[in-house]
Amino acid sequence: MAAKMLGIDIGGTGIKGAIVDTKKGVLLSDRIKYPTPKNATPKSAIKTAMKIIKDLDWEGKPIGAGCPAVVRQGVTKSATNIHKSWIGFPVEKTFAEMVGADVSLHNDADAAGLAELSFGEAKDIPGVCILVTLGTGIGSATFIDGVLVPNTEFGMLKIGDGIAEDYATNRVREELDMSWKDWGNNLNDYLNHLEVLFSPNKIIISGGVCKKFAKYEQYLNTDAEVVPAKLLNNAGIIGAAMGMQRRLDKK
Ligand code: BGC
Repeated sequence: MAAKMLGIDIGGTGIKGAIVDTKKGVLLSDRIKYPTPKNATPKSAIKTAMKIIKDLDWEGKPIGAGCPAVVRQGVTKSATNIHKSWIGFPVEKTFAEMVGADVSLHNDADAAGLAELSFGEAKDIPGVCILVTLGTGIGSATFIDGVLVPNTEFGMLKIGDGIAEDYATNRVREELDMSWKDWGNNLNDYLNHLEVLFSPNKIIISGGVCKKFAKYEQYLNTDAEVVPAKLLNNAGIIGAAMGMQRRLDKK
């Protein structure tokens, strides 16, 4: 099994990529980041990703990518925090055509989950294990005995008067200038809601705010163990690369 794979994480604000050692779950190159074009369509996001491919001399080789949408058979099916043109767009096929190489596309949170499954906190967890990424939106990855149930979108769960994305994201914390205590309590409500619905054995917090875990850990009281992601900010890139590696390994 080849150990080197390019992983690209397409996000609402930045498009990041690096060459990943898929056996060890570490970056083998610089982590390159470009701002996501304003109102990025799939094609404009892919064009930006192509700059990373060029920077890292990865032309013509397989690529794993993640993006903030439901992805079914390579087609993006939702667009909560991205341009509506992503809905129903064959991103995986178009990306492959534009770069002239095989591309595997996953939901970004599912990708982060795959990285944590191989190298981090989701490894060897029996039963249900849920990873939530708390950034602009909420992404989720769900594993049952180590098998990914893709596209779970637990940020869309109703909570209070709205949805979880507008209640427990880092965006909400910043926009409303919430104290760690107030935000931690909101997060706790959300995690308890997940617990009632799915009885996970472990919940993993991913996204930039997982680095600040010590500031809100004390407000969380679920029965399930809650931990910050081990791979921190690189989980999306590493997991995107793992997605392609898994596809190649199955062939
Ligand atoms: C999207 C998810 C995505 C999450 C994190 C949400 O708005 O609906 O698909 O995983 O943001 O980027």
